[in-house]
Amino acid sequence: MKARKKTAVLISGRGSNMTALIRAAAEADFPAEITCVISDQPDAAGLAVAASANIRIHVAPRAGHADKAAHEAEIQRVLDEEGVELICLAGFMRILSADFVNRWAGRLINIHPSLLPLFPGLTTHARVLQQGMRIHGCTVHFVTAEMDAGPIIAQAAVPVLPDDTEGDLATRVLNMEHKIYPLALSMVASGKVRMEGGRTHYAPSLEIGWGEHTNLMVPSSIEEIVNLEDLARRTP
Ligand code: GRF
Repeated sequence: MKARKKTAVLISGRGSNMTALIRAAAEADFPAEITCVISDQPDAAGLAVAASANIRIHVAPRAGHADKAAHEAEIQRVLDEEGVELICLAGFMRILSADFVNRWAGRLINIHPSLLPLFPGLTTHARVLQQGMRIHGCTVHFVTAEMDAGPIIAQAAVPVLPDDTEGDLATRVLNMEHKIYPLALSMVASGKVRMEGGRTHYAPSLEIGWGEHTNLMVPSSIEEIVNLEDLARRTP
């Protein structure tokens, strides 16, 4: 088997996506291993979860650094020390500089709780409800200097039901985030997906296509939505 790609997960909070990545990477045939978790928040709940899974944790708080460059230099030092090859941002609440992002181009991915390019930024679920959207979802993308705008790797859609609250949507979307993030990481780590010329390229062996059952437009109940997990695999 090929060497598994050494992957760092950067978090700021509860780390449920981080947990999904750690769980997926616990499988011996997963093409990435989670080498370490780095948080900019000393009290991020995800740190304890990572530590209990025997993943090395590092805290790199913004405080104590003169500026963003110095903070990022500290993060880069940890990445170098750990021999990291890929980075997953998972609820990391700092915007990385163009310098940092460009250094990691094609090796730095993020998850965002909307169907990008719709609803970049924060409070996505509230804005989806405000706009009366009937479909919502999540996106894993390569990170580029422009926030939430890099080439898309994987997306999953969920219905927005008439009485949904922000919390309902957050839960439904998060459930799909936990499915597509490991999927996207495995595609990137195995080299089946790469970023080139500002676009995502898929290896022919991925055989991406539409399934037969994707009746997302008539969500009389979530159970009736046929195989959302399957849909999540059909992204470009
Ligand atoms: C997720 O909704 C993710 O899409 C966004 O931040 C949230 C992080 O949640 N970038 P968690 O820390 O992974 O639970």
